[in-house]
Amino acid sequence: WNKIALIGAMNEEIELLVAHMTDVRETVKAGITFREGTYFGKDVVVCRTGVGKVNAAVTTQILIDQFKVEAVIFTGVAGALAPELNIGDLVISTECVQHDMDVTALGYAKGVIPYEENSVFEADRTLVELAAVAGEKLFPGKVKQGRVLSGDQFIASREVVAGLHQELSGVCVEMEGASVAQVCGMNGIPYVVLRSMSDKADGSAHVNFAEFTVIASENSYKMVEEMIKQL
Ligand code: ADE
Repeated sequence: WNKIALIGAMNEEIELLVAHMTDVRETVKAGITFREGTYFGKDVVVCRTGVGKVNAAVTTQILIDQFKVEAVIFTGVAGALAPELNIGDLVISTECVQHDMDVTALGYAKGVIPYEENSVFEADRTLVELAAVAGEKLFPGKVKQGRVLSGDQFIASREVVAGLHQELSGVCVEMEGASVAQVCGMNGIPYVVLRSMSDKADGSAHVNFAEFTVIASENSYKMVEEMIKQL
């Protein structure tokens, strides 16, 4: 991969990336600031997508079309769905699904996009393996691989968590990953999503999110740094 996109949705999720870049050139498109530069010897493009699936989709397509990135790594925070995940623990996406895609009234299963061959967007195995090695080195026993669920909703309910975990088999929930994953799939570009848990998507999620987003963002960032160093 000659050029890699390293992206997150919020400032907290990208600020350590920006801080470690050199030779930065900024371009603004669709209101998004794209930073091309060098990061531990690699050509990268770093940007903040903004929150939600539309922001993430538009940004990812621009990264592919205009900046010619050959792989996308998303870093950030998520709400835990798997009960064994604690705040600060990490998830590596094996695949992503949009949990708010709901055409059940027409007989489709939850998360299924009508008329599409595929609604489960698989992450790149090489990137997953690279992340797994980085994770085992930095956070042994605290890294889980699994399905990341995305939707334009901040989840803060134990009932919803149980449903997402049981019906859609998600290990964590956030608001961008599956959108990045779908756009990457449509363009044949490898991707992986890394997420550290800022909360458990329950009744305390709003408080925990505020308290733990910085530390969780940092944990996820450290995985990216280690991955890039291993490339
Ligand atoms: N990102 C971090 N926590 C989240 C939650 N509970 N729901 C959706 N996205 C999140």
